[in-house]
Amino acid sequence: MIISSVVVYKPQNDTIYQTLNNIMFSMKIAIACDHAGLELKESIKALLQRFGIDTLDYGTGDNCSVDYPDYGERVSDAVSTGEIERGILICGTGLGMSIVANKFPGVRATLCHNPLTARMGRLHNDSNVLVLGAKIIDNEIAAEIVKIWLKTPFEGQRHSRRLEKISIIETKLNEGNKE
Ligand code: RB5
Repeated sequence: MIISSVVVYKPQNDTIYQTLNNIMFSMKIAIACDHAGLELKESIKALLQRFGIDTLDYGTGDNCSVDYPDYGERVSDAVSTGEIERGILICGTGLGMSIVANKFPGVRATLCHNPLTARMGRLHNDSNVLVLGAKIIDNEIAAEIVKIWLKTPFEGQRHSRRLEKISIIETKLNEGNKE
């Protein structure tokens, strides 16, 4: 099932594959999921490995019921501290993982349901954590989303100013917490 029926951006598969094949991915990607996201995580891992992207799997590794904050925290913390450049988080809806990830300073987690949200999340929001809902999208759409999220650059300009404002809010909140 796909939530959004309005897909404005139509990816050109050939172009995406060509770009991915031509780019040397020096970045490391950390990936994690809860039990609801296990099957999709395995499929995304296989895709990343096909592109030669260094992928660190932070769990979960089986179908036993787990709590998504425990797994969301591992990836988000690694991105927040700069240990890992980008992360991918998967739960049933993507909602829980989004809530967790966006608690971490410097993390810009974007829940993407289609190619348009994947593309805009990079162009405008400089997304460094991609969140997917395994009960919302199928493996094929998820693969398209991941490819677009990997190859799309941040547009900068006015969007940098807006992200800077988010950083200022984070700093203010942090300072408030110390008082
Ligand atoms: C787990 O049952 C489910 O709540 C989780 O995967 C996610 O959808 C939470 O937002």
